Amino acid sequence: MKKKLYPNPDVIFYLSDEGIVAVNTLTKEEYDLTDSYFSRLKFWNGQRSDKMNTIDVDLLAGNLVLESLGGRPAWGGDRLSELCHTATRNPAMMVPSLPEEEAARQFVEMSQLKQKTLERFIPPAISIIKLPEPHLKTVQEMSLFEACKKRKTSRSFNGASITLLQLSDLLFMSFGYIHGKEWQEVAAEDLNTASERKSSPSGSGVQACDAYLTVVNIEGLVPGYYHYRADGHELALLSPECDEAAISHSVCDQFWVKGAACGIFITVDMHRVWYKSELARAYAYVFLEAGHISQTALLNATALGLKTWLSGSMRDEFVAQKFGLDGWRHFPVTAVFVGHGTDEAVPQKIRETALKLRQQ
Ligand SMILES: Cc1cc2nc3c(=O)[nH]c(=O)nc-3n(C[C@H](O)[C@H](O)[C@H](O)COP(=O)(O)O)c2cc1C
Repeated sequence: MKKKLYPNPDVIFYLSDEGIVAVNTLTKEEYDLTDSYFSRLKFWNGQRSDKMNTIDVDLLAGNLVLESLGGRPAWGGDRLSELCHTATRNPAMMVPSLPEEEAARQFVEMSQLKQKTLERFIPPAISIIKLPEPHLKTVQEMSLFEACKKRKTSRSFNGASITLLQLSDLLFMSFGYIHGKEWQEVAAEDLNTASERKSSPSGSGVQACDAYLTVVNIEGLVPGYYHYRADGHELALLSPECDEAAISHSVCDQFWVKGAACGIFITVDMHRVWYKSELARAYAYVFLEAGHISQTALLNATALGLKTWLSGSMRDEFVAQKFGLDGWRHFPVTAVFVGHGTDEAVPQKIRETALKLRQQ
């Protein structure tokens, strides 16, 4: 009897030394394909019918072809985003249900297998600036309710400076060791001893994110590119050339960044993530982690009386190069800009342009 088979839309292919490899982005299974398997696979385009042969039986068993596409709705986004989506899913077969004793045993065993320390990349510095002891009075005075209510995107910075103490508080609250460096509760059980606890949640406590700064107008600091070192609560000057044109370029010409006193680029170091897991799911978590930290920074900056703006858009390679990052395994994800100004979300130039276009 003739059958019609469909190529599995979750399967992608790449070339290795061995030949063609098929990867099921959902189940993460990989198969080396011989030419005869690959050519038979290409035959099944969802249109043709044929009698099944032994290769087809294998292709079906490996889910490289399907008897039906099922009722899954069309994705709607582009093909790459669909593949990113399937690659970051946890299908049921990958997460079998475990009795509590077994889940606990696996957790302890996995934790104890991990190396005991995890190095953090430290870029070479021109000079080190010790930040003032965090004051924390101002951030403690504003209620969480008030900070949430007052946090608004500002696209109207006025160029006024902020103090080094404000920056010290902001960095300490968002990236600093507010509980101290050692996490005694996990260290006591010899579990994940490389984990660190800060103000934002972090997958397995690997704290994969770092703060790299563009400083334009902070009292007591020369304009430049900096790295925050949580150890020692200090700033490392990486390069003393930082102007607003370069910063605007770095965020894809979003010119309303001009006038901000400082930008904090949140970067991810994949070495720290891979300590926990090499899977695409763990990769997806880094964006969650950066998102948590950015919100912590936004709320703390608001509590410090500063205006804030967050940019997800940026020229990735340009930014990485400015901070001396490889841009591949250590890369920027988002940036929080702080300063003084107003709450205007629509920049004046955009308003003027909209008016001009309406009048044409
Ligand atoms: C992940 C993410 C990326 C963003 N990227 C940009 C951006 O590139 N440029 C921009 O002007 N605003 C950006 N924003 C800010 C949003 O436009 C803003 O938060 C939204 O309009 C709601 O306004 P609010 O922040 O005042 O609540 C981003 C926000 C998020 C959460």
